[in-house]
Amino acid sequence: MEISDILRIIDNISDELKDKVAPVEILNKFSGGRSGAEVYLVEYGEDNRVGILKISDSNESEVFQKAYELAAKNNMHKYIAKLITNYKIEDKGKTLYASLYDLAGDDIYKSETFLDKVINEDDLKDSMVSKITKFVFSWSKDHEKKYMCPTQIMKNELSYRYMDEKYEKAFEDIGVPKDVKWISLDGTDTILPNPYYFFNNENVWKGLKVTCLTSYAHGDFQGDNIIITENKPIIIDFCDLLEDCNVFHDLRYLEAITLGDYMETNKNCDKKLWVNACSSLSEGIMEVDIPQGKGMSLLRQLMSKLRENVKLIVSDARNVLYNPSFYLAGVAAGLINMRKYKSNNKKKAAFIYASYNLKMFLKDEAVDMFTPSLKSCMVFNWVNEIENSFVNLQPISA
Ligand SMILES: Nc1ncnc2c1ncn2[C@@H]1O[C@H](COP(=O)(O)OP(=O)(O)O)[C@@H](O)[C@H]1O
Ligand SMILES: [Mg+2]
Repeated sequence: MEISDILRIIDNISDELKDKVAPVEILNKFSGGRSGAEVYLVEYGEDNRVGILKISDSNESEVFQKAYELAAKNNMHKYIAKLITNYKIEDKGKTLYASLYDLAGDDIYKSETFLDKVINEDDLKDSMVSKITKFVFSWSKDHEKKYMCPTQIMKNELSYRYMDEKYEKAFEDIGVPKDVKWISLDGTDTILPNPYYFFNNENVWKGLKVTCLTSYAHGDFQGDNIIITENKPIIIDFCDLLEDCNVFHDLRYLEAITLGDYMETNKNCDKKLWVNACSSLSEGIMEVDIPQGKGMSLLRQLMSKLRENVKLIVSDARNVLYNPSFYLAGVAAGLINMRKYKSNNKKKAAFIYASYNLKMFLKDEAVDMFTPSLKSCMVFNWVNEIENSFVNLQPISA
């Protein structure tokens, strides 16, 4: 359907309803996000207000309302761009939905996102990042404490992606089968667990349950969906809302995506630096010490800042009850990225990120399952870019 036809239908509906939204005129088109929806900057109503019109074939208003009500209960709705109205548009047997949102941001022709702005502006960074992480840990309270099987936690975080075709294909692309338990990282003496093995069924865990705080999560908490305005962040795009989700999910997702964007593993990233960053981001929780390296100082600052509000969840640093779930969220974020990235190089980088987090999970006292064995181990060649190979145990000759 042409946008001009859609606007005509919207104007008709609005006139009938007398809701003062018509007339709607296009000011600009956004290059758009991931969902395939069409997003326009529009002028609407008789007093020419500016808003965002999102046209998609799924109705996101229900899920938005749920998120908004929850945030309002926690007095966090001021950080969400409000849905003004939503219309169902039917034409020639096709149904579309048009949602009109409040504009977030000060500059009406350009909306600046997390990576664009926070990363480049030092003064903004501190208060902004702090507000973002405060939002993450407060908007969907109360958090419910549950004892869950690790695979179940992972399923709730990966949602529709869990073991789907694209997920399995991603492991195939990087040459990692599901029956191999351990990975030896080439060029290092590091042994990592294979997440594909550990999360393809629940039997692996032999009844193990870990403590996890759960609530609704945003589900796509990344730079494109965090609009930075003069004095506060505004969160948009709640269409991937996750239920019963690990409370650390959104934070670790933002972190993993930022790391992947920033370090440009696709081009000529220093792979050893990547491995070291994965190691330090998975080892410490409140304290992270990203390795020194070219261009790394920004990342060093940002990552510790991102972790600062973990104290809202675990105010006593001696409380280690939730550590396993913190690591699991890192595994989930790594696997979501691995599934999504197009290039094998980036997929491998994300896989390593996930594996490092899984290692810390297995090593945690409450889990205690880090027992690497060369009997089920393959050499994962990323640093040296040759094909993966299995570790062959040769009998020692007398
Ligand atoms: N309320 C809003 N205020 C300002 N910009 C917005 C708003 N909603 C969407 N945008 C811009 O449009 C882009 C795509 O919108 P989004 O709702 O995230 O769609 P998608 O589901 O395709 O990711 C966003 O990344 C942002 O740049
Ligand atoms: Mg989006």
